[in-house]
Amino acid sequence: MSQTIAVLDFGSQYTQVIARRIRECSVYSKIYPFATKAEKLKKDGVVGIILSGGPSSVLLKDSPRPDPAIFKLGVPVLGICYGLQLIGHMLGGKVEKSTHREFGKGMLSVKKKGKLLAGLPKQLKVWNSHGDRVIELPKGFEGIASTENSSVAVVQDAKRHIYGMQFHPEVVHSERGIEVIKNFLVGICKCKGDWQMSDYVDQAVQNIRDTVGDKRVILGLSGGVDSSVAAALIHKAIGDQLTCVFVDNGLLRKNERQKVEQIFRENFHIDLRVAKSGPRFLKALKGVTDPEKKRKIIGREFVKVFEETIKSVGHADYLAQGTLYPDVIESVAIGGNPAALIKSHHNVGGLPKRMKLKLLEPLRELFKDEVRALGEELGLTREMVWRHPFPGPGLGVRVIGEIKQKYLKILREADHILLEEMKRSGYYDKVWQAFCVFLPVQTVGVMGDERTYDYVIAVRVVESLDAMTADWAHIPHSILQTISTRIINEVSGVNRVVLDISSKPPSTIEWE
Ligand code: XMP
Repeated sequence: MSQTIAVLDFGSQYTQVIARRIRECSVYSKIYPFATKAEKLKKDGVVGIILSGGPSSVLLKDSPRPDPAIFKLGVPVLGICYGLQLIGHMLGGKVEKSTHREFGKGMLSVKKKGKLLAGLPKQLKVWNSHGDRVIELPKGFEGIASTENSSVAVVQDAKRHIYGMQFHPEVVHSERGIEVIKNFLVGICKCKGDWQMSDYVDQAVQNIRDTVGDKRVILGLSGGVDSSVAAALIHKAIGDQLTCVFVDNGLLRKNERQKVEQIFRENFHIDLRVAKSGPRFLKALKGVTDPEKKRKIIGREFVKVFEETIKSVGHADYLAQGTLYPDVIESVAIGGNPAALIKSHHNVGGLPKRMKLKLLEPLRELFKDEVRALGEELGLTREMVWRHPFPGPGLGVRVIGEIKQKYLKILREADHILLEEMKRSGYYDKVWQAFCVFLPVQTVGVMGDERTYDYVIAVRVVESLDAMTADWAHIPHSILQTISTRIINEVSGVNRVVLDISSKPPSTIEWE
């Protein structure tokens, strides 16, 4: 069993980020509810405890508190923001409402480095977000750094190994914050830093087994990175108790269904049910041109097909989803924002409630790059774990206007060529997304001696970090030339290829 750092969660939006930073230092971290008993932490053998930040105020009577016995376990404790105020308040110091709410960047002046700030410069830019401050330190504590608004921005009781800081070392805006965390883990908790992703697999597998027992799990497999990694992980944990459902909505890319069948049915031997529902989706979409209407119809049909398919599987208790941590914050932090809604049909909406299924989300604590590493660890191919994002409504939002079988066929072939050339040139891995868009516009061309009147394909290649903003990618002309020549020569019905050179904002990545 790896050395474990317990992160007690007081409700900060950064709790998972703390856990992630700890993993970055090759140390295993586990998030516990804030009131977890010291006995339990002791039993779990934790070697350090971090008290997260949180939105509450220790001055309020009902604010969340840890078990006071955690301070007597002899295990090092680090309080961050609200965690620091808890230390001040619970160990006999004094906390008051700050007259200046410190929010955003501040400058930290280090007076004494101690083990926590070892190796850091005297001045550091740090990121704060809090309303209260400690004005009187508990006995045995000393302030070792200050900011403009607080003389006790970092405190320590080196004898009892209890530390606290007002700023958030886990966020990227805090300069060298990761070093502070590392100092706590290695210098103070004596962590060896030998944890790795393969250990995570063992722990996650055990957690899934403990949760699921002998019950049955259903997972909606889209073939994207997240659901694929979730499928591989859950299958490793519970084998045949998992059934995966893949909905072929007729809006997939070339050979997509076959690839999913090959990987999951043939290689992993997962019980995979494929709902071949293309005609049904196309029928429901007939005559519809409005992008949002198309999305709604596709989402609605998806839920219906999914529901019918899982009924045919028989009884199940859990619905597994490949929800990642960023999806979790997105829906919490900006609930009601269309960006969160966009993904809703992917997560099959109200289905779990209606079908009385419990949710199983084994990737909830992980970030995308960690999920990729986990996927590789589980034996998924590089190609699979580094796939570009693909929207739930698929080619449905890449055929502009009304969707027709003929248009889809053209788009599939063109897109296949684009992806082949992106991969061949090595540019696939350098960009966020690359895809073709079908334009239902006919233009004049000439092939051989003949005049043609054919369709237009737009090529869209973007660079991005999180899809919130994006730049069109500067692909070398020679590669673009090959792509254009191949699409026009090989895809019947196309006589013109155009390149999309717009950035987001003001454009979006998809055309619809
Ligand atoms: P936009 O076009 O809004 O896209 O710049 C941002 C990212 O989201 C993807 N996208 C979708 N994903 N359902 C999805 O699951 C959708 O309806 C949808 N629309 C856009 C898009 O591919 C890009 O990665």
